[in-house]
Amino acid sequence: MCKISPSVLACDFSHLADEVKSVEAGGAEYLHLDVMDGVFVPNISFGPCVIHSIRAQSAMVFDVHLMITDPIRYVGVFAEAGADIITIHYESCDDPAAVLREIHRLGKKAAISIKPATPASVLKPFLSDLDMILVMTVEPGFGGQSFMPETMASVRAVRQMIKESGRVIELEVDGGINAQTVVTASEAGADVFVAGSSVFRASDRGEAIHNLRHAAESVK
Ligand code: DX5
Ligand code: ZN
Repeated sequence: MCKISPSVLACDFSHLADEVKSVEAGGAEYLHLDVMDGVFVPNISFGPCVIHSIRAQSAMVFDVHLMITDPIRYVGVFAEAGADIITIHYESCDDPAAVLREIHRLGKKAAISIKPATPASVLKPFLSDLDMILVMTVEPGFGGQSFMPETMASVRAVRQMIKESGRVIELEVDGGINAQTVVTASEAGADVFVAGSSVFRASDRGEAIHNLRHAAESVK
């Protein structure tokens, strides 16, 4: 069963609660929240107080993607703000396993992400500590970029690793996902699809989410 995780980075922030409600009513399972610190990535988005505000407005699973340096400093704050799944970047810290353990200690699901140039093999030591793996399909930092087909080698490698581990680990892709690229990523083994522009630029969010899911499941 595929899941769709609309990224609020592409929404109209002046109507944030209504934007979130539109994708919840549209059938999305997760809500993707991109946190950027201007250091790990060259962009700044929003932080825990925004997530806390929308937590009161939504029952969706909050899928928080931390693009921040040394995330151990902030995972407690994001857990408190309402995150359900917390994703950290492999490249953002010296000891990802310690951060994943802390996320679990806080009672949240833990995930790790790799940038396009990071080999999937770096994830092997963490498999027993993971609920989800996020393979970036663009360079992190900005919405609206083009999907990088060369990242599909990592998606296939991660799918194989998950299979061999015998564990239940979701495989998410993020960046440039639309009704065409979702098919490519689904074929490669992804089962959670982040979509910013392709959902929030559509006038009918429910239709956009349905079309993504339908396309992703057509190859499963
Ligand atoms: C990029 C973010 C993505 C982004 C996706 O750094 O992690 O979640 O918002 O946006 P689209 O779907 O527009 O590529
Ligand atoms: Zn993201």
